[in-house]
Amino acid sequence: MSLRTILTFPDPVLRKKAIKVTEFDESLQGLIADMTDTMYDAPGVGLAAPQIGESIQLIVVNASQEADGRDTLVMVNPEIIEKEGSQVDEEGCLSVLDLTASVKRSKKITVSYQDKTGQSLEMTAEDRFSVILQHEIDHLHGVLFIDHLSTLKRALYKKKIKKMMAAKQ
Ligand code: NI
Repeated sequence: MSLRTILTFPDPVLRKKAIKVTEFDESLQGLIADMTDTMYDAPGVGLAAPQIGESIQLIVVNASQEADGRDTLVMVNPEIIEKEGSQVDEEGCLSVLDLTASVKRSKKITVSYQDKTGQSLEMTAEDRFSVILQHEIDHLHGVLFIDHLSTLKRALYKKKIKKMMAAKQ
C-alpha cells in the first residue's frame, strides 16, 4: 500500500473516458488499497482512479455517516441506472484546487456496479451520499464538477488556475 499523487486540473488524464475493468486480479486489489489510503490521507470522501492517473472505471468512497468514521465502499464499473428529483449542494474536488461551488444534481440515484471481487450489485443513494457518488462517477467520464457551473464561473476559474500556474514558473 502506498500513497499516490492526486492529479489536478488541467491534467489531460482527468478528461479521458475511463475504460471498463475486466480483471479482478492482484494488481486491481493493490490499486484499491492505494486509492483508499490516498483518499483518507488527503483527506477526501471519494476518489476516482483517473485522479491518480489510472484511467479505469473504479471509485472508492467513504460511506460512513459518522464525522470521523471510515466505511470504505469500492465500486467497479459503476453506472447510474435510475435518477430522481434534484438537489443543490456544495462541492469541492481533490483535483480542482481552491474552489467549492453549488452544483445541481439528482436527489436520488440507483447505481449498478461490481464489488472488488467482480460480484454485480446495486445500490440506491439519496441526499449527500448520492451527490458524492454522482461526483465520483462523473470522473470516470472525464467530467469535473466545474463542468456543471455556469460558463462565466468556469471561465473565471480557468483564468485563476492559469495565473497560479504562471506564478509557479
Ligand atoms: Ni472529484
